[in-house]
Amino acid sequence: MLRLAEKRAIVTGGAGGIGLAASILFVQEGAKVLLVDLNEDALQEAVATIGSDAASYVVADVTQPEQVQHYTQTAVERLGGIDVFINNAGIEGECKPITDYSIETFDKVMAVNVRGVWLGLKYVIPEMQKGGGSIVITSSTAGVSGDPNMSAYVTSKHAVIGLMRTAAHECATMGIRVNTVNPGATETRMMRSIEEQFSPEDSEAKKREIEQWIAMKHYATPQDIAQMMLFLASDESRHCTGSIYMVDGGQPKRC
Ligand code: NAI
Repeated sequence: MLRLAEKRAIVTGGAGGIGLAASILFVQEGAKVLLVDLNEDALQEAVATIGSDAASYVVADVTQPEQVQHYTQTAVERLGGIDVFINNAGIEGECKPITDYSIETFDKVMAVNVRGVWLGLKYVIPEMQKGGGSIVITSSTAGVSGDPNMSAYVTSKHAVIGLMRTAAHECATMGIRVNTVNPGATETRMMRSIEEQFSPEDSEAKKREIEQWIAMKHYATPQDIAQMMLFLASDESRHCTGSIYMVDGGQPKRC
C-alpha cells in the first residue's frame, strides 16, 4: 500500500533541495504534487526530474497574497483539492552580526519565511478544511536555538513555530494537523551559500567545521528531511499535531 495513495499535495520551494526531495518521495508514494516556486526554468527541471504526470508546477512568489491565492486555486482545480501542504519555501539572508545586518535583508527574510508561511496557511486552510489534511512547515534547528550572525533567519524560524502552534489549535477540530519539521544542516544550495558567506576563502573548511558541531558529524541529505515530511503527510501520523520534529543528527542544542 502506497503511503500517500490518493493524496493531493502542495510543496512550496518545490524546485529547491528539500522541496524537490519531498516531491519525488511523495509521487513515489502515490501522491499528486503541485510544486510552487519562483523560477519557471527550475520548476520545469524539477518536474522533468520527477518524470511523472503526477507532478506539475505553478510559478508563484509566496510573499504575494494574490499569488498564494493563485497557487491554492490551481491546486484545487488541477488536483481536485488539497490534503497535504508542505509550507517550505525559505531563504537564508545574510551571515552578519545584527549591528551590520541590512534592514532590507531582514525584511526580505521575514517576508518569505514568515509572511509567506502565514499567507499559505491563510489561503490553504479554508480549502483543506473541506476534507481535512496535514500541514508541515519547515522550521530549522535555528527555530529552537540561537545561531550567531543569522538574526533574521533565526527569528523567522522561531516565528513559524508560533504560527504552527496557533494553527494546530485553530485547526484541530477541522481534521487538519499542523507540525514543523526542523532540519539541521542539510546538503542543499542553502548550506553552500551559508558556508560561502561565512568563509568565502575556504567554504569547504567551513563545512567541515559545521559538521563537527553535529553529534553524528555529517549533514542530512534532503531525502532525510523528506522522510519525516512523508510520515507527517501520511495517515500514519494521524494523532500528531502541534509538534516540532527535529531531523538534525543529534545536533547539540546551543543557547
Ligand atoms: P533551497 O534554496 O534549495 O530551496 C528553497 C526554495 O525556496 C528555492 O527553490 C527557492 O527558489 C524557493 N523560494 C525562495 N523564495 C521564494 C518565494 N518568495 N516564493 C517561492 N519560492 C521561493 O533550500 P532548502 O535547503 O531546500 O530549503 C528549504 C527549506 O528548508 C527552507 O525553509 C529552509 O530555511 C529550510 N531549512 C534548510 C536547511 C538546510 O540546511 N538546507 C536547514 C534547516 C531548514
